[in-house]
Formats: sequence, C-alpha cells, structure tokens
Amino acid sequence: MAVQINPSILSADFSRLAEEAKAVDGADWLHVDVMDNHFVPNLTLGVPVVESLARATDTPLDCHLMIENPDRWAPQYVEAGAGSVTFHAEAAAAPVRLAREIRAKGARASMALKPATPIEPYEDLLPELDMLLVMTVEPGFGGQAFLDIMLPKIRRTRELISKHGLKLWLQVDGGVSASTIEQCAEAGADVFVAGSAVYDTDDPAAAVSMLRRQAAE
Ligand code: DX5
Ligand code: ZN
Repeated sequence: MAVQINPSILSADFSRLAEEAKAVDGADWLHVDVMDNHFVPNLTLGVPVVESLARATDTPLDCHLMIENPDRWAPQYVEAGAGSVTFHAEAAAAPVRLAREIRAKGARASMALKPATPIEPYEDLLPELDMLLVMTVEPGFGGQAFLDIMLPKIRRTRELISKHGLKLWLQVDGGVSASTIEQCAEAGADVFVAGSAVYDTDDPAAAVSMLRRQAAE
C-alpha cells in the first residue's frame, strides 16, 4: 500500500498550531500527541485543542494518546473530530471493547506498543484494529534517537499482519528521519510519524515530500 507521512505537531510551535498544520499541506495525517503527565512524564494538550485543530485544518487528525485510562477518554477524541485514535496497549483495561467503541463512533482504531512491549500477546486482537503503532523511542518527547533494536519487532508485526491477511496499517513513531525511514519501510512499516525531521527544518512541506520519496524507494 502507499506510504503515508504523518508530521507530529509535538515539534511545532504550539502558539501557532493552525499555521503549523497548514505548513504541512500534502501530509496524509496530522499526528497529535496527547500526553497526561502520568502515562508519560510530559504534558501536552487535550480534547479542546483537538476540537479546534480539527476545525482549523482539512488534514485528518491522527491522535496518539499517551494517557492513562484511555478506555474512558479515547471516545471523546473521536467526538472532538479525530479520524484515527491510538491508545496504548499498556494503558488500556479492555482493548477489544475500546477498539470497537472507537470504530463504532466512526474513527479508525489503533493500538500502540512501547519499546519493551511485545506484539505476540496481541496477535488475536489485530483484526479489531485499523492500525498498529510500534514505538521506536520511549514515548514522551520528540527529538530522541531512533531505537534500531525495534526493527525486528516491526518485521514480526508485518509478518503477523500478512499471516492473518489483514489490511491494518503499521505505523512507526520516534526518531524517524531521512537516515532511518528506509530501514523502517524495508522492515514493513507503511505509516511514518516524523516530528523534528519535519518541523525543525525551514520547509516542513518539502521535508514531508522528501521523507515520502525515501520511504517509497
Ligand atoms: C513521542 C511522540 C512522537 C514525537 C516524535 O513520544 O509520540 O510522535 O513527536 O518526534 P520525533 O519524530 O522528533 O522523534
Ligand atoms: Zn506520537
């Protein structure tokens, strides 16, 4: 399937979010990192900001919830206008029920795995999901170094998706840049989140195009 590039607004200027969203016209999704200072040691934004962003841009929102108790909060992000909602496997009490609820409300349901969380225990859950996110850094901050020891997990996840004949997307997030995106694509990822590699440049839209070309090679 086609490669998708999702710039992460975590690396954008939070006082100019609408403009920063427009600066990446041509991106497939806008990746929105929601952090609660409990699941991760950082605090970003919540439902009201997602609601405003959804009104401010035509690019669909890919909300990555790094929060405790996603069972309670994730449906509110669908109502706020997110097109895709990712909860963490480590935080969800009832992931199947939650994925079904997200889908029933009309968004794509996605589950994320921290670097130390294996994919194998979740094999039977894959048909309930539209996307699986393999974190390639410890969640919490942008600009960290890519963990190349995650490449085998990306590969195994792709094998499981193929084995079950599923259509779900395989996303990677953390340290994705010009120097790491090809390895991720080769391992089987097809949706790429990039924060610093897009926004810490003079031309975010050009950075998106360049990453797209590199991933497709
Ligand atoms: C980190 C976030 C990422 C972050 C990635 O916890 O989930 O989405 O923005 O930033 P880079 O691409 O700079 O590693
Ligand atoms: Zn993220």
